[in-house]
Amino acid sequence: MEFPFDINQIFTERISFLDQNLVADRWTARRPDLQANLATVIDELGRASAKAQQLTAAVTSASKLQSQRHQLYLLKDGECSGGRGAVVGFLKVGHKKLFLLDRHGVHVEAEPLCVLDFYIAENLQRHGYGLELFDFMLQHKNVEPGRMAYDRPSPKLLSFLEKHYSLTQNVPQVNNFVVFEDFFFNRAAVQ
Ligand code: ACO
Repeated sequence: MEFPFDINQIFTERISFLDQNLVADRWTARRPDLQANLATVIDELGRASAKAQQLTAAVTSASKLQSQRHQLYLLKDGECSGGRGAVVGFLKVGHKKLFLLDRHGVHVEAEPLCVLDFYIAENLQRHGYGLELFDFMLQHKNVEPGRMAYDRPSPKLLSFLEKHYSLTQNVPQVNNFVVFEDFFFNRAAVQ
């Protein structure tokens, strides 16, 4: 995704980590113009992701990121657009308190790290960028994909998880989250 401003100036790393402070690095923190452009990028990505998933409203925006304690990884390609760089996609995660059912129907209360939104620009999908972003997050959070929960995963995300992490056996839930069998290993049931 290209923007009418310099992406490399806002995001200095190939993968940037953003939280509620909405600061890509110390440099952008002191530049209100760059902060405004950063918010434009997040809003645009959120809209594109919602459109790709046929959602009526975006689940990701700059203001939502500021108010909800979620975290976002943004992947850029710094080489293109005449050296200004372009945004490839993003992955948003956060902890949620969930009431889940294990495969015996026993209630389990947990607050796992959840995948809340995930998007790679249409023309760049199926080129391994999603895997690069996801693997970065797994290392950064030191978490296994099978120990995470997935909020309303799209068919593309389910296919992605099966292909790259062999996650196939999901355990039916009564909410919109999907978890896999690994999730329940060594987890206590609610008494
Ligand atoms: N149809 C089916 N499977 C797909 C597709 C597609 N169009 N695109 C990616 N995948 C899956 C497949 O398993 C694919 O492997 P294959 O090409 O051998 O079939 C694998 O992902 C490719 O892996 P990557 O190239 O690393 O993934 P990509 O860069 O495409 O990122 C993502 C995956 C984020 C799901 C991307 O396809 C995307 O943005 N899709 C649209 C938005 C979306 O559905 N996001 C998930 C929302 S749900 C949530 O966030 C909780």
